[in-house]
Amino acid sequence: MNISFNALLQKENFSKDDIIRLLKASGEQEKALFKRSHEVKLEYIGNKVYFRGLVEFSNICKKDCLYCGIRATNKEVNRYDIADEQILKAAKFAHEHKYGSMVLQAGERSDPAFVDRISQLLRDIKKISNNELGITISIGEQNPETYQKWFDAGAHRYLLRIESSNAELYNKIHPNNEEHSHATRLKCLKSLQDIGYQTGTGVMIGLPFQTYEDLANDLLFMKKFDIDMVGMGPFIEHDQTPLYQYKDQLMSLNERFRLTLRMIAVLRIMMKDINIAAATALQAIDPLGREKALKIGANIIMPNITPTQERANYLLYQNKPCIDEGADDCTNCMEARINMADGEIGYGQWGDSLHYKSRH
Ligand code: 5AD
Ligand code: FES
Repeated sequence: MNISFNALLQKENFSKDDIIRLLKASGEQEKALFKRSHEVKLEYIGNKVYFRGLVEFSNICKKDCLYCGIRATNKEVNRYDIADEQILKAAKFAHEHKYGSMVLQAGERSDPAFVDRISQLLRDIKKISNNELGITISIGEQNPETYQKWFDAGAHRYLLRIESSNAELYNKIHPNNEEHSHATRLKCLKSLQDIGYQTGTGVMIGLPFQTYEDLANDLLFMKKFDIDMVGMGPFIEHDQTPLYQYKDQLMSLNERFRLTLRMIAVLRIMMKDINIAAATALQAIDPLGREKALKIGANIIMPNITPTQERANYLLYQNKPCIDEGADDCTNCMEARINMADGEIGYGQWGDSLHYKSRH
């Protein structure tokens, strides 16, 4: 017997079938879901929204993920690697504008010189910000020694999306070789958690071959893994990638967008005190996409503070927003829009995951 949708929303623990039902909600039911997730958010973490100034400092990548615009074999990409002084300038900007935290993101690389360069950058960022700027890293799979080095140098959060918790689906969207293994991805996440990072993961939503059951399993995976932070966004096909051939089999962009909002809402109800980012990919579909995500359950936004001239070259997907605006413009327009979404910016605060704090 099916319980009523409203009774379902009040349940303490969702089964896989419950989650599938919630993810398929539309109309009044979808509205009730968003109302509930909004209430949970206010009750457990409040209406503060925290900034993470995002620096996409290099699009050089050794991996070849079948969905990603900056995959190694895409010869049409202009590869760049921003000079350390420029990265430090962006860090200074984030610090002076009271962003609280920044994210260093790049394609995957792990040669020793690169590893040492990141360690040095981390120490420099800590120094120029008097230890005030929180630092998240998002540079893919590394060995535990590297993760430890970066942790010791001052990084305290790491983002590594699992992309899909279903190993079979993962294999369909990655080349079939040692370099792209689901087991390694899991091992890396475990190692980040063991070292003591606030550990973030996420998935793409609306991938070819992906089912509602996969997505329900993704949310259950995040809960079981006891993840601290989540960033998940719609899959957006890129015409210079192999997955583009499936474009006619995908949900519409609007459906992927709504489904992402429902994923965020359900996750907020399941994991009340984690940090959830309003993914930039939402904004590629709807100019107010990130604000809608904040309203229904997300609490983190990642303003792009990459030096402007390089932004157009970090195209993981097409129609990426804000590629020709300066970081200043972004701050101003964002402040107004966050207020519109009933949020309040947590200036000058790290905005750590309350979940992580409760685990330690
Ligand atoms: N559409 C949406 N998200 C993408 N990512 C990479 N390519 C795409 C795409 N085409 C996401 C992946 C990766 C993160 C940095 O960007 O989930 O982990
Ligand atoms: Fe760079 Fe996937 S293409 S990590």
